[in-house]
Amino acid sequence: MPNPTSLTIRRPDDWHVHLRDNQMLAACAVHTARQFARAIIMPNLVPPVTKVAEASAYRDRIRRAVPADLKFEPLMTCYLTDGADPVELARGKNEGVWVAAKLYPAHATTNSAHGVTSMDKVAKGLEAMEKAGMPLLVHGEVTDPDVDIFDREAVFLDKVLTALVKRHPGLKIVLEHITTKEGVAFVEAHPKQLGGTITPHHLSYNRNALFKGGIRPHFYCLPIAKREEHRLALRRAATSNSASFFLGTDTAPHTTDTKECACGCAGVFNAPVAMQVYAQVFAEEGKLDRLEAFASLNGPRFYGLPPNEERITLHARPMDVPDRVEVPGGGKDITVFHPDTPVGWSF
Ligand code: NCD
Ligand code: ZN
Repeated sequence: MPNPTSLTIRRPDDWHVHLRDNQMLAACAVHTARQFARAIIMPNLVPPVTKVAEASAYRDRIRRAVPADLKFEPLMTCYLTDGADPVELARGKNEGVWVAAKLYPAHATTNSAHGVTSMDKVAKGLEAMEKAGMPLLVHGEVTDPDVDIFDREAVFLDKVLTALVKRHPGLKIVLEHITTKEGVAFVEAHPKQLGGTITPHHLSYNRNALFKGGIRPHFYCLPIAKREEHRLALRRAATSNSASFFLGTDTAPHTTDTKECACGCAGVFNAPVAMQVYAQVFAEEGKLDRLEAFASLNGPRFYGLPPNEERITLHARPMDVPDRVEVPGGGKDITVFHPDTPVGWSF
């Protein structure tokens, strides 16, 4: 069957977003709120969001940064540190502030210096989350410098996640931004306990894109893009109709100058193009009829939330999105992700 010229689906949610703070928040919030009704907000600010009061204040700042004509609900997360307080975790969940908690292995990625150094150090917190029905969101990479950067996700599954799911069988876990066929298989092997999010960029390019014609910092993110066979596994998972996989953009803005330098930051700013790129991928796979489940149904089901009632329409015409977004004050901008191949869908 040929692809349709438009597609109407329930408004999607984004289950993994970096909105930053201050002027970056002012620049970025609108782009996520235009596309998504709700978003899981990453807590890796400087300093990280570890207290209920901090998350609640950050949620207010996000709400203020979203234009009044857009309806958008930020879903807040707690940044787990060694010795994370089980009482604070349970209290924040009961008070309706935390929706989940985030595990960053220490030094795995941007702003993760305060992350967890060993799973023993968060066992009490995870027990409290298990009791409270609060999902754990996992940045699934080991940080051992002896492990090759392209193997860090697969090694994490063996060395950390396998033990974690056994130790906390009642804990719901999201393996975030999966980038490997091993990640796909792990999620598929634990359908009751695990979900997996997949980004638009990991569906669109493989690791060659980072080096095509020279080093290209705007394709650099963590976990880093892998070989083509892994990208294909992600495309199969996203379009498989399995309820275990759902949308999480990992939109991670950094100003252009901090990407285009000798030691550029990890993160792809894809919020303005997210649904267009997902639609392109599903169209290429001939599976547009499955986009709604991936983008708008599977995530809410995992989190025990109702799907959105509102609808959005995507149109089969080339996307028209600016290359850069200005950051107010200071003359800086953020480079918007554009895949190398044309995107024939507009939002
Ligand atoms: C994220 C960031 O910039 O905060 N970067 C990234 O490459 N994805 C952190 C993260 O999610 O790993
Ligand atoms: Zn992220």
